[in-house]
Amino acid sequence: MTTTERILWIVGGTLLCIFIVIQIFPIGWIVPSMELKNPPVQHTIEWSSPEAIALMHQTCYVCHSNETRLPFYAQIAPISWVAAQNVNTARAALNFSEQNFQEINAYRLIAYIGSDLMPPQSYRMMHAEANLTESQKKILMDAIRVAADNPINTVVAVPSP
Ligand code: HEC
Repeated sequence: MTTTERILWIVGGTLLCIFIVIQIFPIGWIVPSMELKNPPVQHTIEWSSPEAIALMHQTCYVCHSNETRLPFYAQIAPISWVAAQNVNTARAALNFSEQNFQEINAYRLIAYIGSDLMPPQSYRMMHAEANLTESQKKILMDAIRVAADNPINTVVAVPSP
């Protein structure tokens, strides 16, 4: 074995060990915001159409709800840490499972969708289905307007278990 080969084996082995250790290591003990939990859903917003429900879940609820399901590759550290931090930041700004339209600013939601600020560009680059067409944007914006006009009727409190 040449010296170069030996160095490659050592570097590769070390990286593999680090990768395995971080899968086992509970990062949440040190940096709680890097751990992803799904707290109970407190509100279910009744979006006006089945298309709007599907689109909301596909494009916004991934980050802005307590119903986050990460794809398998995003459950592997260190990607899982980045994903968790992203979702926790997103929830702090807007959480459809905890806020209703008396607390949510509907205009801001519509403006963010209309100007392609949300879903974030970094996310859209990885997830083709999050690149909304004009008609999909309209479905979402219409549903938001309807929900905002009926802030109490559209929200169902889910009793805690
Ligand atoms: C990949 C995760 C992700 C997805 C998907 C996503 N967002 Fe966000 N969103 C964030 C993050 C992170 C923030 C907070 C930081 C910021 O403002 O950029 C945020 C902030 C926002 C805000 C600002 C809230 C405030 O008052 O400060 C709005 C409005 C919003 N998102 C709407 C949406 C809508 C509508 C969708 C679906 C079309 C969506 N987002 C999809 C991650 C996401």
